[in-house]
Amino acid sequence: MCGIIAYAGPRSAVNLLIDGLHRLEYRGYDSAGLAVQGSRGELQVEKRVGRVIELERAIGPEIKGTTGIAHTRWATHGGVTRENCHPHLDSLQRIAVVHNGIIENMGPLKARLLSEGVRFRSETDTEVIVHLIAHFYDGMGALGDSVSPDVAGDPVVALRSALARLRGTWGLAVLFADHPGVVFAARNGSPLVVGLGDGETFLASDPHALTPHTRRVVFLQDGELARIDSAGVQTFRIDGVTSKHKVDTLAEEWGDSELGEFPHYMLKEIHDQPEALRQCLGGRLVPEDGTARLGGLDLGPRELVKLPHVALMGCGTAYHACLVGAGAIEALARIPARAEIASEHRNRNPVIDPEALYFAVSQSGETADTHGAVKEVQVKGGQVMGVVNVVGSSIARACGRGVYIHSGPEMAVASTKAFSNMVAALLLFALQLGRARAMSPHAGKELALALQDVPNRVARYLAQPGPIEEMVRAVVGAKMVLFLGRGGSAAVAAEGALKLMEVAYIPCVAYPSGEMKHGPIALLEKGSPVVVIAPDDELKDKTLSNLQECRARGARVLLIHTEGDLEAAALADVAIAVPRCHPLLSPLLTVLPLQLLAYRAGLALGRDIDRPRNLAKSVTVE
Ligand code: AGP
Repeated sequence: MCGIIAYAGPRSAVNLLIDGLHRLEYRGYDSAGLAVQGSRGELQVEKRVGRVIELERAIGPEIKGTTGIAHTRWATHGGVTRENCHPHLDSLQRIAVVHNGIIENMGPLKARLLSEGVRFRSETDTEVIVHLIAHFYDGMGALGDSVSPDVAGDPVVALRSALARLRGTWGLAVLFADHPGVVFAARNGSPLVVGLGDGETFLASDPHALTPHTRRVVFLQDGELARIDSAGVQTFRIDGVTSKHKVDTLAEEWGDSELGEFPHYMLKEIHDQPEALRQCLGGRLVPEDGTARLGGLDLGPRELVKLPHVALMGCGTAYHACLVGAGAIEALARIPARAEIASEHRNRNPVIDPEALYFAVSQSGETADTHGAVKEVQVKGGQVMGVVNVVGSSIARACGRGVYIHSGPEMAVASTKAFSNMVAALLLFALQLGRARAMSPHAGKELALALQDVPNRVARYLAQPGPIEEMVRAVVGAKMVLFLGRGGSAAVAAEGALKLMEVAYIPCVAYPSGEMKHGPIALLEKGSPVVVIAPDDELKDKTLSNLQECRARGARVLLIHTEGDLEAAALADVAIAVPRCHPLLSPLLTVLPLQLLAYRAGLALGRDIDRPRNLAKSVTVE
């Protein structure tokens, strides 16, 4: 989704901004732009629809300076056009703004500005912000308010006055031509982090853009403003009072955000999974006691035994991991556990039990809906812990306690290794909780040892993935692909369908197998591809009955099964075997061929694998 990078210091800003935009590309965007202050502070702007490389090519040698702001846009208000690209300028071209987030009261504000003679050049909500700042900057008392003329020309007052009239979310970077060498920033619900260098300062919406330059950072808080120059950062509250800020050090992460020998991040990240799982499980399993210890939760057995139930919230792939986690918690701890789509949870005025434990599951830690769900649980007195990949992200900080899943940087929009590590982290919790309750030492040891070995089994499968291409041929021309599974495999079916839709743009429907006969079976005709996930567990026979029902209607069955299960394999048109494992761990293996299927099908159809159309890596709007 939208990305911001800004710089104030002695170096040439253009190259640093372009490099920062490239590092934000993985988040998904449709256009890019920048503004750099010239030698007299004047604002030089360039914008382009399309890739950052196109912006880079368009920047002429005349655009130079040492202070600037830049943006990748993912359209919300207004189409993908050059006029709608950020930065946006006020009428006199003295103020430039880039913005992440959505202004909800854009309509009435724009109407008032129009009535006062302001001319708009774009359809964006962001343009409202820059004109609003300009009115206060001129001491004009915009929108009928009166502002004392003696504060005219004060950028912080102008920003504060404008922000006080906005409703919605923002991460803002602002340049004023009259204030060379300074970037102003403001945050409300859309992340911004300041990077402190040696005689230079950066600002970004994602710490990933800062790590080549510095690991010393200040995370801006909601409601905060900042003044950034080469010497560092000053922060203010919206009432103008200076606020104290904490300097954090970004931890070194395992894993590489570079492609290496792989043609796409998605394929690299699929192959990262054995090591990613080792990073997640390492030091957290206690096989001799048949349990796990998640230090970040800071919950001992006395607290765990009192939990009446557990609720898990996430979106997309993270929600599918929640479904697997909820099943494992119920199976091992014998207390109710439920998974819920975070956007539904936050908006339905949920009943919160202060005694229960809530998990917010998110790779990016920035998903607006999941963050909103966290706030809603907290407002109602509930306890939420994060299950998050990105260290220091908004959700991780809002929760305070939780589990980092340690996937390493995930750059492809289609999430793969984060799914596996979310599932692994939730399985660790289920084991810890199960052992604190009724689970026997023997059963605990069996699961702990199985978990310890799962990265090896994942590696073994990935070394010999089976006839993926045959499955690809069956799905690429299909009108629709049906995915079926039961229990944890129903969540894997949903995840496989999501991957194939987002990477290959093939319509997919995922159902728990038992539900098929209640509707989706009507879709089947001769040759319809049906992906069935049927590992060798206690639900397998029932799933195979559903498989037979599909065959009887002429469907082409693409089966994921446990290696050695020849009886199941014989029922399929194409069968892919995954290594045998503890039944609760099967999602970690059965998801692998589905990730490869999506990748290969996307490739066969010439899709933009790592940046599928319309999608963003972290969805920071509601
Ligand atoms: C996964 O392939 C998707 N791109 C998407 O569903 C993603 O999982 C979802 O947006 C949640 O993201 P998060 O884990 O960063 O919160």
